[in-house]
Amino acid sequence: MFSEKMQQAMNQQVNAEMYSSYLYLSMAGYFEGKNLPGCARWMRMQAQEELMHAMKIHDFIHERGGKVKLTAIEEPPGNWESPQAVFENVLSHEQKVTGLINDLVDLAIQEKDHASNIFLQWFVTEQVEEEASADGVLQKIRLTAEAPGGLFVIDQELGQRTMACPCGQGRV
Ligand code: FEO
Repeated sequence: MFSEKMQQAMNQQVNAEMYSSYLYLSMAGYFEGKNLPGCARWMRMQAQEELMHAMKIHDFIHERGGKVKLTAIEEPPGNWESPQAVFENVLSHEQKVTGLINDLVDLAIQEKDHASNIFLQWFVTEQVEEEASADGVLQKIRLTAEAPGGLFVIDQELGQRTMACPCGQGRV
């Protein structure tokens, strides 16, 4: 059974995923301003992915016969000290989201809501990937501290990022 408590928690997670999307879009804007189009593209894709995460939960709430309640999205920061600080923020944010997903799994277990538990396992796995990818970029950026030209190379690399097109046909 899809309890009121579970429904509320899932709705909060829709908001958290929307905030993630907002945060990464703000980071994309930061990189556009720094003339790092590859980093900006990476962030735009990240923002799109977060939107898909939000929609996945949104649709699950409906499937379970629940009601989606959209709430105000907090304003994200608009500036960072450096590209490295941005990716440190990405990693810490993803670690925070992992904690939120883990709390949801705990609640599903507590509520004996097996369907929610199974549904959430996709997010548990996704968070491992999200943290690893943020950490991977961060490690590389740290290396550029002594070789600033390296940031140019990283920008080129991040600009290659693609994702499945939301239309379901091919990649963008
Ligand atoms: Fe939806 Fe990046 O976690």
